[in-house]
Amino acid sequence: MRKIVILLSVLVALVAFFSLGLAQDSAKTEAKAAAKEVKEVKHDYVGVTKCKGCHKAQFEAWSETPHAKAWEALSAEEQKKPECATCHETGKTAGETAEMLTGVQCEACHGGGADYKSFKIMNKKKWAADPEGQLKLAQAAGLIIPTADDCMRCHKKEGNPNFKPFDFEKMKDKVHPVKAEG
Ligand code: HEC
Ligand code: HEC
Ligand code: HEC
Ligand code: HEC
Repeated sequence: MRKIVILLSVLVALVAFFSLGLAQDSAKTEAKAAAKEVKEVKHDYVGVTKCKGCHKAQFEAWSETPHAKAWEALSAEEQKKPECATCHETGKTAGETAEMLTGVQCEACHGGGADYKSFKIMNKKKWAADPEGQLKLAQAAGLIIPTADDCMRCHKKEGNPNFKPFDFEKMKDKVHPVKAEG
């Protein structure tokens, strides 16, 4: 009888030991997966000329707005200051020829387009057949449909010497006001 009790407690201890190890392992894999996910969230910028080809109407409307000229609003000196440039530029393209995209371009609001601009995703036929499904694919590839929070990354008081109160509902129709077709 005693032998069995000892054997049993050894077994219990062993099981506890291994499951602790397993739990630690799975915690590690989870942390790794999370880190990978954060990495994958980065989608490279391509620049407004890449969007222009397929979205002529939005491009033309945007070109007339202050966002398109936000870089020119800064003096040459101010353009060199990171504390000014951050909200007056869009970001760097990827690769060796990393080019700074100036002004508040499409991707400052819609997210880096390297992955969602793909013809497999932003495809007229596929989009017409299944708008919700294609939008989901686009969003999974980095497309942002902007909300007030996305604007308030720049339209906030801190660091913005020319701050004006921001009203998303009133302002969002001014970003590229496309006239109704036909
Ligand atoms: C190959 C052509 C093509 C390119 C390049 C492209 N798009 Fe699109 N995009 C489309 C098509 C087609 C749709 C589907 C809706 C439509 O027909 O306008 C779409 C949809 C969208 C939508 C709207 C999603 C909705 O809710 O209806 C946004 C926003 C968008 N594109 C932004 C961009 C931006 C920003 C870029 C540049 C980084 C870009 N697109 C590049 C063809 C393209
Ligand atoms: C946090 C983002 C942010 C930073 C940082 C920032 N700006 Fe701006 N800037 C804006 C926004 C947004 C506007 C448009 C006004 C508004 O709606 O707040 C603007 C507008 C301007 C304008 C146009 C003013 C007008 O009335 O047309 C100038 C010039 C300007 N900023 C210069 C600067 C300078 C110089 C710096 C650095 C000292 C700077 N900005 C830093 C966000 C910023
Ligand atoms: C300042 C932010 C901002 C910029 C810059 C911007 N957009 Fe948008 N875009 C929006 C918002 C906001 C919507 C409307 C989302 C909604 O309806 O809720 C939108 C909607 C769209 C749509 C859906 C159809 C429509 O016209 O509403 C397309 C396509 C689009 N944008 C393409 C572009 C392209 C291409 C550019 C660059 C030439 C661009 N956007 C620049 C904020 C922006
Ligand atoms: C990357 C920073 C940035 C983001 C993101 C951004 N803006 Fe702006 N916005 C600016 C700057 C900078 C200006 C001023 C440009 C200038 O006057 O030269 C401006 C100006 C404007 C103006 C013109 C204001 C005026 O008084 O004429 C409107 C409207 C506007 N933004 C709406 C929006 C909306 C809506 C969003 C989100 C969908 C948004 N912006 C996102 C930086 C940004």
